[in-house]
Amino acid sequence: MLRDLIDFNDLTLSEWEDLFRLGLDIYDNPKDYGDYCGDKILASVFYEPSTRTNFSFQSAMLKLGGKTIGFSGTSSTSVSKGETLADTVKVVANYSDVIVIRHPVEGAAYAASLYSPVPVINAGDGGHLHPTQTMTDLFTIGKLKNKKMTGLAIGVCGDLLYGRTVHSLLKAFALYSGNTFYFISTPSLAVPGNYIDSLKKNNNIIISETIEECIDKLDIIYMTRIQRERFDSEEEYRKQTGIYILGKEKLKRAKKDLTILHPLPKNNEISPEVDDDPRALYFEQAKLGLYIRMALLVKILENPKTTLKMPENNNININKKCANKNCVINTEENLPDLIKTESDKILCVYCESEL
Ligand code: CP
Repeated sequence: MLRDLIDFNDLTLSEWEDLFRLGLDIYDNPKDYGDYCGDKILASVFYEPSTRTNFSFQSAMLKLGGKTIGFSGTSSTSVSKGETLADTVKVVANYSDVIVIRHPVEGAAYAASLYSPVPVINAGDGGHLHPTQTMTDLFTIGKLKNKKMTGLAIGVCGDLLYGRTVHSLLKAFALYSGNTFYFISTPSLAVPGNYIDSLKKNNNIIISETIEECIDKLDIIYMTRIQRERFDSEEEYRKQTGIYILGKEKLKRAKKDLTILHPLPKNNEISPEVDDDPRALYFEQAKLGLYIRMALLVKILENPKTTLKMPENNNININKKCANKNCVINTEENLPDLIKTESDKILCVYCESEL
């Protein structure tokens, strides 16, 4: 039973493969699923802006015959009067069967799941994770390129520090083996070590300073936007922009069957003329997000969570608190201190920072 979807790795590989097949079937036969969620309501609880994730989840629920409620931005809600995340979630759960939440703070979706008796889906928590984008990415690679997730050369370029879509993608690829990753970023925006640790057990890792250095080797290039909203200052952000731009000239040396992906929105990291290149699949990728999210809603509502379950700390005694200032444990009051161990490291359960 899938209680909540906070991390792509809440699914086993076999559950993901089932979901993938369901997504394909929904894509081919959407009308067969038109009343799957006839009596269900999806609450879209978006504390941060979104176009694709919010609308595709709402559209997914409508196409499954259900209904949607929700907000996009908190100014018209009681969050602006100081209501806590926990209280908001407890209340919204009374009016809905599934909550899709996006929040600027890391670990917020997990925290929400502790207080919601209905399933919670993480639609992006700060610079941490974005698991349904990863489902979209893998669905795109599998469906459009008929690729098995092994033996691929994958370039990941841009903001690898704050890019939550990158973090979720790397966690997912850690379940596979035999791929080579080329990380292309400035040293300041390099991918955090914890995402590399699990990936490198069964895959090769290469740090690349430029796109030119590796473009001819790649099967997939996953471009990302510099996450302006995560920087402490505009000045720091400016120092990181305009460094990696994928244009026609660079693509001359790329493979003919290269796949160019981007979670979108894009800024200047892909030149507009690339949109017409048949290798650019990012708009198709956004479209496919609808079908895999329909599949996820079908699965999560098949046998839904109806009770709360507060996890325990597995008898780990430690006095340290999470030092990540953008972790929900440091921004919301009265959350339980929760920690976990992973490869001999003690991590904050919410944001997965090492304590
Ligand atoms: N890829 C993605 O999360 O896009 P939105 O921010 O528009 O939802």
